[in-house]
Amino acid sequence: MGTYLFGDSGESPDPKFDALSSLLDAGTFARVEQLGVSDGWRCLEVGGGGGSVANWLADVVAPAGHVTVTDIDVTRLEERDNVTVLEHDVASGILPGNAFDLVHARLVLFYLPARDLVLRKLRDALRPGGWLVLEEFDCLPLEVLSAAPDDAKLIMRVKNALLTLLDQGGAELAWGARIERALRDAGLHDVSGSREVQEWEGGSAGCRLLAATARLVRAKLPLTDEEFDHYLELMAAPETVVSSYAICSAQGRR
Ligand SMILES: C[S@@+](CC[C@H](N)C(=O)[O-])C[C@H]1O[C@@H](n2cnc3c(N)ncnc32)[C@H](O)[C@@H]1O
Repeated sequence: MGTYLFGDSGESPDPKFDALSSLLDAGTFARVEQLGVSDGWRCLEVGGGGGSVANWLADVVAPAGHVTVTDIDVTRLEERDNVTVLEHDVASGILPGNAFDLVHARLVLFYLPARDLVLRKLRDALRPGGWLVLEEFDCLPLEVLSAAPDDAKLIMRVKNALLTLLDQGGAELAWGARIERALRDAGLHDVSGSREVQEWEGGSAGCRLLAATARLVRAKLPLTDEEFDHYLELMAAPETVVSSYAICSAQGRR
């Protein structure tokens, strides 16, 4: 298992999960809806984090369907009538075979050195014909589009420091760019994908995500307190604009 850098903030709501939900849920829900998810589906949500996707799925597949949501840290996940919460490490743990109509993982395999093996494990958890949906970042496109020159340099220093930490922890920084091919290599059918680079303004969900993740690894960033505080100000200032991590998704069926 790699090192998961972005543990719980202790804040409520958790700023990282809050930003991820604002940034990504609408796209996730549209993508999964297109697959026909409905009453009766059995779903596995891997690394469910703050639970926004699991809770949405639970509503969509009710009353007959069921959602199993896993994470190594389940403090933010809630059990419901048709939701089972499982403390589970997807890299080392066992999953039932042929069990699910849908397996979804968003920003989880990115962190796991054994991601290609984990992908096969997720495939095997599907019933034949079931769908695997991955959503991941390709971090490389992030660059500054609007900021004063010194501020742009600071933003790029934080980006580079953060990506170095992720890389050292076993993350694959451009994993998002590879997921469609990885699904094909795993023998899945009807594979398709999409990739989107957005503009994130200071204060947007994307910049709130950048700020939240930087705060979680503050002690490991080679910045003075003054520089770090200024970085947080830049991530909240509407004058700052960055091109986003590429938001990549891919789906395929067993
Ligand atoms: C970036 S967050 C994404 C959370 C959620 N999927 C989302 O998109 O809102 C990554 C999540 O993966 C979980 N995670 C990290 N390593 C894991 C592992 N080996 N097995 C299961 N979950 C893991 C983390 O605890 C965290 O909740």
